[in-house]
Amino acid sequence: MESPSHLSIFETPEALAIGAAERFVSLTKARNTEQLSIALAGGTTPKRVYELLASGQFEDRIDWSRVHLFFGDERCVPPTHSDSNYRMAHDALISKVPIPPRNVHRIKAELPPAQAAEAYEQELKQFFPNVTWPRFDLVFLGMGADGHAASLFPDSEALRENSKWVVATKEPRSGQDRITLTLPVLNNAAGVLFLVTGQNKAQRLREVLRSDQDTKSLPAGLIRPAKGTIEWLVDAAAASLPEQV
Ligand code: 6PG
Repeated sequence: MESPSHLSIFETPEALAIGAAERFVSLTKARNTEQLSIALAGGTTPKRVYELLASGQFEDRIDWSRVHLFFGDERCVPPTHSDSNYRMAHDALISKVPIPPRNVHRIKAELPPAQAAEAYEQELKQFFPNVTWPRFDLVFLGMGADGHAASLFPDSEALRENSKWVVATKEPRSGQDRITLTLPVLNNAAGVLFLVTGQNKAQRLREVLRSDQDTKSLPAGLIRPAKGTIEWLVDAAAASLPEQV
């Protein structure tokens, strides 16, 4: 069954970031579970969302003791490296809110890739015991201009993984080692929130959102939570091509 796919278009990246932060707060209020599992996206788009969540406008509307932060993917660099998704989230959010350190589940990407993937999978299995696939309450994702999501790149082996929760892979252009959640994990989420801004994403976004297109080679088009919701938050620039929906 196709999950309900919703598209929200915002005039500016700032309006989109506010919308995403509002959705984060709504989720924490809607889910009355003791713990909330939220996987953060990397890259640049989510940074403003994280800054807003740490700002006075949002911070005290969230019970951070219930929030468990995970990462959808990570670059294989130390956590202090400028490429690190953890560093971006730490500087923008984690270091600024009263979230217990044990609630932050960093991918230890400074380890050799295979070890980093295994260690993260074990940490996930401790948090989500005795299940075939973990079910995140919310997964933030961005989309690359090539249609990748997390570190699932077009035509990569990682896209075919159907038993592991976490794999090591490579960014195709730079060869940078990456660690990523696998497609079955992302598609088992209760909620997926794509954040896409910029004219350079417009073409791909149109391909991914038009279900009649063959999006098999576009990982972002393969993210369809079977028992969950997916919402695309996009800005006007990314939605600038005609027939966007
Ligand atoms: C990463 C992200 C990646 C990102 C997209 C979009 O580690 O880079 O997981 O999937 O979300 O590349 O990145 P921007 O937000 O920078 O456009």
